Amino acid sequence: MRFMQVIEGAVKALDHLTSLDVILDNLGRRHGKLEVNGKFRSYYWSVFLECSIYCLRHAFSRKMNDKEVDHVIILWRYLLRDVMKKIKAGTTADIAHRMHQMSIDDSRKYSLTAIKHKESNASSAENSSKNLQRPNKIYSTNVITDRL
Ligand code: HEM
Repeated sequence: MRFMQVIEGAVKALDHLTSLDVILDNLGRRHGKLEVNGKFRSYYWSVFLECSIYCLRHAFSRKMNDKEVDHVIILWRYLLRDVMKKIKAGTTADIAHRMHQMSIDDSRKYSLTAIKHKESNASSAENSSKNLQRPNKIYSTNVITDRL
Protein backbone atom coordinates (compact mmCIF):
# COMPACT_ATOMS: atom_id res chain seq x y z
CA MET A 1 0.00 0.00 0.00
CA ARG A 2 1.24 3.49 -0.88
CA PHE A 3 0.99 6.76 1.03
CA MET A 4 -1.51 8.30 -1.45
CA GLN A 5 -3.74 5.22 -1.25
CA VAL A 6 -4.06 5.78 2.50
CA ILE A 7 -4.94 9.45 2.02
CA GLU A 8 -7.42 8.57 -0.73
CA GLY A 9 -8.92 5.88 1.51
CA ALA A 10 -9.30 8.41 4.33
CA VAL A 11 -11.10 10.91 2.07
CA LYS A 12 -13.46 8.19 0.82
CA ALA A 13 -14.10 6.98 4.37
CA LEU A 14 -14.85 10.41 5.82
CA ASP A 15 -18.25 9.28 7.11
CA HIS A 16 -16.96 6.02 8.61
CA LEU A 17 -13.30 6.58 9.51
CA THR A 18 -13.20 3.57 11.84
CA SER A 19 -13.23 1.36 8.73
CA LEU A 20 -9.56 2.41 8.32
CA ASP A 21 -8.57 1.22 11.80
CA VAL A 22 -6.99 -2.08 10.70
CA ILE A 23 -4.97 -0.46 7.89
CA LEU A 24 -3.74 2.38 10.13
CA ASP A 25 -2.90 -0.02 12.93
CA ASN A 26 -0.75 -2.09 10.54
CA LEU A 27 0.96 1.07 9.30
CA GLY A 28 1.66 1.90 12.96
CA ARG A 29 3.52 -1.41 13.29
CA ARG A 30 5.51 -0.66 10.16
CA HIS A 31 6.55 2.76 11.45
CA GLY A 32 7.12 1.35 14.96
CA LYS A 33 9.70 -1.02 13.51
CA LEU A 34 11.48 1.98 11.97
CA GLU A 35 11.48 3.82 15.31
CA VAL A 36 12.90 0.85 17.20
CA ASN A 37 15.66 0.56 14.59
CA GLY A 38 16.53 4.23 15.13
CA LYS A 39 15.36 5.27 11.66
CA PHE A 40 12.41 7.32 12.83
CA ARG A 41 12.08 10.07 15.45
CA SER A 42 8.71 11.05 16.94
CA TYR A 43 9.09 14.71 15.85
CA TYR A 44 8.97 13.53 12.21
CA TRP A 45 5.17 13.34 12.59
CA SER A 46 4.70 17.07 13.23
CA VAL A 47 7.29 18.07 10.61
CA PHE A 48 5.49 15.86 8.13
CA LEU A 49 2.08 17.32 9.02
CA GLU A 50 3.27 20.93 8.60
CA CYS A 51 4.99 20.14 5.27
CA SER A 52 1.85 18.41 3.97
CA ILE A 53 -0.29 21.41 4.97
CA TYR A 54 2.17 23.74 3.25
CA CYS A 55 1.93 21.73 -0.01
CA LEU A 56 -1.86 21.53 0.16
CA ARG A 57 -2.14 25.29 0.75
CA HIS A 58 0.15 25.93 -2.20
CA ALA A 59 -1.94 23.68 -4.48
CA PHE A 60 -5.34 25.05 -3.36
CA SER A 61 -4.32 28.70 -3.64
CA ARG A 62 -4.09 28.32 -7.42
CA LYS A 63 -7.84 27.76 -7.64
CA MET A 64 -9.36 29.34 -4.53
CA ASN A 65 -9.33 32.67 -2.74
CA ASP A 66 -7.58 33.00 0.66
CA LYS A 67 -10.75 32.55 2.71
CA GLU A 68 -11.70 29.35 0.90
CA VAL A 69 -8.15 28.01 1.21
CA ASP A 70 -8.16 28.68 4.98
CA HIS A 71 -11.45 26.84 5.33
CA VAL A 72 -10.31 23.77 3.35
CA ILE A 73 -6.93 23.69 5.09
CA ILE A 74 -8.61 23.47 8.50
CA LEU A 75 -10.48 20.36 7.31
CA TRP A 76 -7.34 18.77 5.83
CA ARG A 77 -5.46 19.42 9.04
CA TYR A 78 -8.18 17.59 11.01
CA LEU A 79 -8.08 14.64 8.63
CA LEU A 80 -4.27 14.28 8.53
CA ARG A 81 -4.00 14.81 12.28
CA ASP A 82 -6.50 12.03 13.00
CA VAL A 83 -4.96 9.63 10.48
CA MET A 84 -1.56 10.22 12.10
CA LYS A 85 -3.01 9.90 15.59
CA LYS A 86 -4.23 6.42 14.72
CA ILE A 87 -0.91 5.41 13.09
CA LYS A 88 0.95 6.78 16.13
CA ALA A 89 -1.23 4.70 18.48
CA GLY A 90 -0.24 1.60 16.46
CA THR A 91 3.41 2.68 16.56
CA THR A 92 3.33 3.10 20.36
CA ALA A 93 1.63 -0.28 20.80
CA ASP A 94 4.20 -1.89 18.49
CA ILE A 95 7.14 -0.37 20.40
CA ALA A 96 5.67 -1.50 23.75
CA HIS A 97 5.25 -5.00 22.31
CA ARG A 98 8.85 -5.08 21.02
CA MET A 99 10.20 -3.86 24.39
CA HIS A 100 8.19 -6.54 26.16
CA GLN A 101 9.55 -9.20 23.80
CA MET A 102 13.09 -7.94 24.41
CA SER A 103 12.64 -8.15 28.19
CA ILE A 104 11.32 -11.71 27.83
CA ASP A 105 14.33 -12.63 25.67
CA ASP A 106 16.61 -11.01 28.24
CA SER A 107 15.12 -12.88 31.18
CA ARG A 108 15.43 -16.10 29.19
CA LYS A 109 19.11 -15.34 28.66
CA TYR A 110 19.62 -15.18 32.43
CA SER A 111 17.23 -18.01 33.32
CA LEU A 112 18.36 -20.96 35.43
CA THR A 113 18.22 -23.30 32.45
CA ALA A 114 20.31 -20.96 30.32
CA ILE A 115 22.94 -20.55 33.05
CA LYS A 116 23.09 -24.28 33.66
CA HIS A 117 23.57 -24.79 29.94
CA LYS A 118 26.31 -22.13 29.80
CA GLU A 119 28.07 -23.58 32.85
CA SER A 120 28.04 -27.10 31.51
CA ASN A 121 29.37 -25.91 28.11
CA ALA A 122 32.14 -23.98 29.85
CA SER A 123 33.02 -26.97 32.00
CA SER A 124 33.22 -29.36 29.07
CA ALA A 125 35.46 -26.90 27.19
CA GLU A 126 37.69 -26.55 30.26
CA ASN A 127 37.79 -30.29 30.83
CA SER A 128 38.73 -31.04 27.30
CA SER A 129 41.47 -28.39 27.20
CA LYS A 130 43.04 -29.30 30.55
CA ASN A 131 42.06 -32.93 30.40
CA LEU A 132 40.64 -32.69 33.96
CA GLN A 133 37.75 -34.64 35.42
CA ARG A 134 35.65 -32.46 37.73
CA PRO A 135 32.85 -33.94 39.82
CA ASN A 136 29.43 -33.17 38.31
CA LYS A 137 28.09 -32.24 41.77
CA ILE A 138 29.72 -28.80 41.70
CA TYR A 139 27.40 -27.80 38.79
CA SER A 140 24.25 -28.81 40.62
CA THR A 141 21.16 -26.54 40.76
CA ASN A 142 21.94 -25.48 44.35
CA VAL A 143 25.29 -24.03 43.46
CA ILE A 144 23.77 -22.07 40.58
CA THR A 145 20.83 -20.69 42.60
CA ASP A 146 23.25 -19.56 45.32
CA ARG A 147 25.06 -17.43 42.80
CA LEU A 148 21.93 -15.59 41.61
C1 HEM B 1 -0.06 10.35 7.44
C2 HEM B 1 1.11 9.84 7.76
C3 HEM B 1 1.74 8.67 7.05
C4 HEM B 1 1.16 7.75 6.25
C5 HEM B 1 -0.29 7.61 5.84
C6 HEM B 1 2.22 6.85 5.82
C7 HEM B 1 2.05 5.78 4.99
C8 HEM B 1 3.04 4.88 4.65
C9 HEM B 1 2.85 3.72 3.82
C10 HEM B 1 1.53 3.32 3.14
C11 HEM B 1 4.02 3.09 3.74
C12 HEM B 1 4.32 1.79 2.97
C13 HEM B 1 4.13 0.63 3.91
C14 HEM B 1 4.38 -0.69 3.24
O1 HEM B 1 5.13 -0.75 2.26
O2 HEM B 1 3.82 -1.69 3.73
C15 HEM B 1 4.97 3.82 4.53
C16 HEM B 1 6.28 3.47 4.70
C17 HEM B 1 7.22 4.30 5.21
N1 HEM B 1 6.99 5.51 5.83
FE1 HEM B 1 5.22 6.36 6.14
N2 HEM B 1 3.41 7.26 6.36
C18 HEM B 1 3.16 8.37 7.11
C19 HEM B 1 4.08 9.12 7.82
C20 HEM B 1 5.42 8.93 7.73
C21 HEM B 1 6.40 9.83 8.29
C22 HEM B 1 6.08 11.11 9.06
C23 HEM B 1 7.61 9.31 7.99
C24 HEM B 1 8.97 9.87 8.33
C25 HEM B 1 9.40 10.97 7.84
C26 HEM B 1 7.41 8.08 7.26
C27 HEM B 1 8.39 7.24 6.82
C28 HEM B 1 8.18 6.05 6.17
C29 HEM B 1 9.25 5.14 5.78
C30 HEM B 1 10.76 5.35 5.97
C31 HEM B 1 8.64 4.04 5.18
C32 HEM B 1 9.30 2.81 4.59
C33 HEM B 1 9.22 1.70 5.61
C34 HEM B 1 9.79 0.41 5.10
O3 HEM B 1 10.09 0.28 3.91
O4 HEM B 1 9.88 -0.50 5.93
N3 HEM B 1 6.06 7.89 7.12
N4 HEM B 1 4.35 4.90 5.07
